Amino acid sequence: MPRIFIFVGLILLLCLLLPPAIIARVRSTPNSNLPIHIIQDMAFQSKYKTQAVNPMFADGNTMRPPVTNAVARGETYLDAHLYDGVIDGQWANVLPSQIKMDFATLRRGQERFNIYCSVCHGISGGGNGIVNQRAMELVANTNGPVNGTVWVQAKNLVHDELVTVQPMGQVFNTITYGIRNMAGYGSQVPTEDRWAIAAYVKALQRSQIAQPSDVPAGTKVADHISPSPATTAVHNVASKGATIPASNSLTNPATSMLEGKL
Ligand code: HEC
Repeated sequence: MPRIFIFVGLILLLCLLLPPAIIARVRSTPNSNLPIHIIQDMAFQSKYKTQAVNPMFADGNTMRPPVTNAVARGETYLDAHLYDGVIDGQWANVLPSQIKMDFATLRRGQERFNIYCSVCHGISGGGNGIVNQRAMELVANTNGPVNGTVWVQAKNLVHDELVTVQPMGQVFNTITYGIRNMAGYGSQVPTEDRWAIAAYVKALQRSQIAQPSDVPAGTKVADHISPSPATTAVHNVASKGATIPASNSLTNPATSMLEGKL
């Protein structure tokens, strides 16, 4: 066989490597053009994109609002007690039946309160959390509020009488929907956790504005007792039925709550 055939044959064989090399390069290089679709399938079909004008509807919108009175699955919020904190048009004084009043619930409430509420209302509910302190600093700036800061003091949850008289359901409602300058936490905090927080707020109040009558008969209480720290509220829960040391706290919020007094 003449050498030339062998030579040409080898060149042709080498040429076979070209197509895979080109394909590999094209596949690995970004390209703003549409890819070549040899088999169309459903890659291209007539449709309206979300924000496009749509002549089929009178208002011209492609995106349609939900049908009036439609209720999404799992979103029938018919239980007014559970979702709004209301029983027969009155603020609920007790937890909904779905939630148990026990140590675990209050513990959970304490944890969630410390995460979501203490930044403004303070760990013990006094209304002077770290965000509040910082805002006050910015407002008190000698050259006027920094960047025009405007701030409404977070409420003192344990000593403001407008708040302490509120039933648990009202606190729950405030957490859920917010109030005046405070935003609601309904979308961030699940329903059960909002109840746990509301119960914990009541426990915090009980721990700091207790009356001598809250103390079980026969317990000796010192004349002057400073407000108990937030944790006492929860620790007292555990000591239901146990003798309360006079130096600890005047009250046992858990006992009162379990007896339905809050
Ligand atoms: C960003 C700061 C901020 C956070 C976080 C916050 N609050 Fe508030 N809260 C406020 C302010 C400010 C007010 C007073 C609103 C007003 O009077 O306009 C308030 C008021 C309240 C009140 C009193 C409502 C009334 O009837 O006057 C309650 C109860 C309350 N907050 C509970 C909570 C609980 C529980 C949480 C946690 C889930 C929470 N807040 C988280 C700022 C906050």
